[in-house]
Amino acid sequence: MAASWTKTAWAGWSVMTFLAIGVATYGAVAAFLSLDGSLPSMTHHYPDRTTAAALHFGIGGLALILGPWQFLPALRRKAPAAHRWTGRLYVLSCLVSGCAALVLAQQTHTGLNSQIGFVLLATLWLITTLIGWKRARERDFAAHRRSMIRSFALTLAAVTLRFYLPLSQVLEIPFHVAYPIISYACWVPNVLIAEWMIRRSAIQPASPAPQ
Ligand code: HEM
Repeated sequence: MAASWTKTAWAGWSVMTFLAIGVATYGAVAAFLSLDGSLPSMTHHYPDRTTAAALHFGIGGLALILGPWQFLPALRRKAPAAHRWTGRLYVLSCLVSGCAALVLAQQTHTGLNSQIGFVLLATLWLITTLIGWKRARERDFAAHRRSMIRSFALTLAAVTLRFYLPLSQVLEIPFHVAYPIISYACWVPNVLIAEWMIRRSAIQPASPAPQ
């Protein structure tokens, strides 16, 4: 990415960050304030996996909140240590929430199709995040950046899923029809947009690593 962002880049980042923090807050409320089932929550959709559900929604929210700041060139230049430590916390959050997602996916509603969709999402999320971290350790920052763009695109599935679900209700698509589609639609377009951004920015040189 160029050192200074265009207005469009700032607008895109601001909308992405606003939605990410919004969904993270919702997830935290659903995960921690409703374990007793008093609030219409997601955890009681997984009656015998409430711990995995709370870890997935609660810790996944941390990845949503931390991820956007890692893309700010100024933060990386002025506070590389902050980038490193926030980044390590992001990686840990993705690992915990991703493993919890694999546990939950075994019990996904609407059958095998959705199960495969969410298992693929969780697996790709774990792989891209781990590769991203490994590349940073190897100080291959161009590859690190590409993998972390893919990782965060998958983290944002939490946002896109919560866009498509109510949309399917507005369109009166029965849940058993909508959910198997959403289990792919919530991450495949995100990955395609991430690949487009990576290819587009491949034309522009990456900003040099801080010495
Ligand atoms: C979600 C996005 C990102 C995450 C989670 C992340 C995470 C990390 C982590 C954990 C480290 C330290 C690795 C270690 O030593 O343990 C690191 C270092 C670094 N990352 Fe990222 N990163 C992200 C995005 C980016 C982007 C977009 C760039 C742009 C090129 C970038 C450039 C760097 C650089 C240059 C370092 C080395 C900092 C230093 O050691 O001085 N990162 N990142």
